[in-house]
Amino acid sequence: MARPQVYVSRTIAEAALQIIARECDLRVYESADYPVPRATLIQEVAAADGALVLLTDRIDAELMDAAPRCRVYANMAVGYDNIDVPAATQRGILITNTPGVLTETTADLTFALILASARRLYEAQRAIVEGRWNTWSTMFMTGQDVYGATLGIVGAGRIGSAVARRAKGFGMRILYHNRRRSPELEVECGAEYASLDDLLRQSDFVSVLVPLTPETRGMFGAREFSLMKPTAVFINTARGPIVDEQALYQALTTGKIWAAGLDVYAQEPVDPHHPLLSLPNVTAVPHIGSASVATRTRMATLAAENLVAALTGRRPPTPVNPEVLE
Ligand code: NAP
Ligand code: GLV
Repeated sequence: MARPQVYVSRTIAEAALQIIARECDLRVYESADYPVPRATLIQEVAAADGALVLLTDRIDAELMDAAPRCRVYANMAVGYDNIDVPAATQRGILITNTPGVLTETTADLTFALILASARRLYEAQRAIVEGRWNTWSTMFMTGQDVYGATLGIVGAGRIGSAVARRAKGFGMRILYHNRRRSPELEVECGAEYASLDDLLRQSDFVSVLVPLTPETRGMFGAREFSLMKPTAVFINTARGPIVDEQALYQALTTGKIWAAGLDVYAQEPVDPHHPLLSLPNVTAVPHIGSASVATRTRMATLAAENLVAALTGRRPPTPVNPEVLE
């Protein structure tokens, strides 16, 4: 039987390339830092049986129709809002993602943003570097306490629950809001279920970890920020378009909320001159939630395992639309 042809849209961990190379022929877009141009992606997947893609690649109906040979797209991310899954399912195309392997690493980054925003770490470092640290003073760089505060998690799934476990260690009261209650989280962390509005009114920290879907796009706007405490810290490590960035800017500059920690943006890479980045009460990092060496390697190998399994007649470990396998 001919070996399946695979396209990989970015330089990924060698371990993952080896998994693919054992059973498939592969071509790789040899770039670590830039996404493959759309025209190249279309041309390459048109000649492939399957592709390993990144969240920077838009996998839509146009691309699928231009590449009828390509029957599987293995996304190297847990979020798959870059892929039109209904269009894929309609065409019998399999989509896979990388849930679980990045949960703890992304929860670490989320908690790092909670701490950094609350205690003004970035602003404080700049104060030293810019020569504004004159003496120990009573209220210089004072922030908000994390220990004992109330954390509201919007989207307490795998990562949100891992954030809750960290919060428990900090003696925090934990509120959460999902569409469905999570009895496990309530037992494990003593988390309390709340409506979104109640969570926003009561929380000192609001951490967003819902997937980007038609329902969650624009979930946080002027109304939501106006419900929050003036001392509240807003953390987004989910997806940028879940938040109306203009409304967030307004909330931060008019004292409706106190600070924000951001890993994700409406447009990525974010424009360095974006108004949010000019604010001292914004701690911003460049979509690095899952960025540890070990986790990025595990994400790449899981994506490769999904791809190879699907192309060789085995069941992939983490399909997004398993109905196409039936
Ligand atoms: P998950 O286990 O599926 O958790 C998502 C949670 O959101 C679930 O508890 C779900 O509960 C809830 N949810 C979904 N739609 C909702 C809605 N409309 N209203 C309220 N709650 C809703 O996913 P995960 O593995 O934790 O990942 C979550 C997201 O984090 C990913 O989709 C991705 O976008 C993002 N992420 C970002 C990074 C980064 O680098 N910054 C890294 C990894 C993941 P119900 O179904 O009960 O509503
Ligand atoms: C990263 O943002 C992911 O969804 O894995």
